[in-house]
Amino acid sequence: MDSRAIGVFDSGLGGLTVVKQIIKALPSESIIYLGDTARVPYGTRDRDTITKFALELTKYLIKHDVKYLVVACNTISATCLEEIEELSPVPVIGVIKPAAKLAVETTKNKRVGVIGTRATVHSGAYTREMRKIKDSIEVFAEPCPLFVPIIEEGLMQHQIAEIAVAEYLLPYQDNDLDTMILGCTHYPMLRDLIQKKMGSSVKLIDSAKPTAQALKLDLKERGLLNSSDEQPVYKLYLTDTPLIAKSVINIFFEGDPPTEARKIEL
Ligand code: DGL
Repeated sequence: MDSRAIGVFDSGLGGLTVVKQIIKALPSESIIYLGDTARVPYGTRDRDTITKFALELTKYLIKHDVKYLVVACNTISATCLEEIEELSPVPVIGVIKPAAKLAVETTKNKRVGVIGTRATVHSGAYTREMRKIKDSIEVFAEPCPLFVPIIEEGLMQHQIAEIAVAEYLLPYQDNDLDTMILGCTHYPMLRDLIQKKMGSSVKLIDSAKPTAQALKLDLKERGLLNSSDEQPVYKLYLTDTPLIAKSVINIFFEGDPPTEARKIEL
């Protein structure tokens, strides 16, 4: 048993979708969330920059004596998970493997779509992970760079979201997918529009739930679950507190989180 907190980090606030699922799956666990709101988005940057930023976040959380690290960002998980694992003295889980595994288990015709940031799609990480499990999987991957700002502005119900979804999903209309990975923390917020465009026969997978489930299993196997009766403690650290932080937090947490955000220096 280990009552230390789980460290969760993301380029910004999208990783709160993962925190929400972790709280559901592991209600006794304390969590420290670190969002690099001063430097989001990462998805438009190159590998070196993403790695440098991600290792700074890793060091910060390690200093806070966490027992486990959750990389709640597709872009970071796709780019530099190995470097984070090398640096970290505690176990690390990213969001790509759990979502890739669920997609392989879900697809019947072995034709899977992946949408994500430019960095995630360019990395080929989802394709690699799925093919490790089943090498005959065919993957169709496209970046959707406008989704992140549209969602952060709260425009999910606006016509602009519908136009962006129609435009980015056009290449998927004739390739007979039966499964699509929403490979970015933000995209579940556009789930209904994406589902409508892709049709009800396409199963949409996002990484929040499978990552929380995989984390639970691994904590159990490693004997790291918190079994004390004390109330869990939640901390929400941000590198910048922009004017829209509160509304973006509410979008991703789908309501008020169990703690107030605090600004920190890395
Ligand atoms: N959190 C990032 C991801 O899941 C999206 C935002 C960004 O580009 O940094 O890929």
